[in-house]
Amino acid sequence: MANSDGKLRVAAIGDLHVMEDSVAPYRELFAEISNEADVLALCGDLTNFGKTSEAEILAEDIRACSIPVVGVLGNHDYECGQPENVAKILHEAGMTVLDEQAIEIEGVGFAGVKGFMGGYGRGELAPFGEPIAKAFVQEAMDEARKLENQLRTLRTKRSVAVLHYSPTVETLEGEPEAIFQYLGTQRLADAIDRFDHVKAVVHGHAHHGKYEGATPRGTPVYNVAQFVLREKFGRPYAVLEV
Ligand SMILES: [Fe+2]
Ligand SMILES: [Fe+2]
Repeated sequence: MANSDGKLRVAAIGDLHVMEDSVAPYRELFAEISNEADVLALCGDLTNFGKTSEAEILAEDIRACSIPVVGVLGNHDYECGQPENVAKILHEAGMTVLDEQAIEIEGVGFAGVKGFMGGYGRGELAPFGEPIAKAFVQEAMDEARKLENQLRTLRTKRSVAVLHYSPTVETLEGEPEAIFQYLGTQRLADAIDRFDHVKAVVHGHAHHGKYEGATPRGTPVYNVAQFVLREKFGRPYAVLEV
């Protein structure tokens, strides 16, 4: 239920990296979050290796969550080559897997994709030359287009973009500059900046990055990788009022 001032409290956490030998790793945390927020957004790397056994463990904790859960997969969830099975298990536990379709919760829109790498500004890789270079860039372009299409379907005045890779370098500060290009792509920000209704962007993936940043047009971006949040807030999730 939204606040008295009409704001929705969105809890966000990325990079859960659930492992096979984990025992109810997020059960208590999700119960705590259910008391403090209206929606939980999971920003990818939900499992450590993309194993179905890992997804089953997280699924049990999602079932124990009493608020709506939305989320996207991360690169780790692709490692075993069966992201669709990981997504299916989490979906069956009640998580809305964004990716193709945006949803609306209490007047706030949620759109999301994993995203991809490719760099920013002058460092952005262009689709030129060898077919494999073009295919690599095409993946980033496809993810950005999926995000843009979802955002276009939303009729809400406020929305949240849920990503794994970062749309900006600003929240990567703290990571080695040499790997920025592997941590996200500007193409995601280009998609977001076409819409006035996006009030916040949450992403993970950059475990050593910085909490706050913005897209070129000024949309707030938050790196909610749990390791970043633990260090900044002493707890592994953020709560945004949207
Ligand atoms: Fe991660
Ligand atoms: Fe990642």
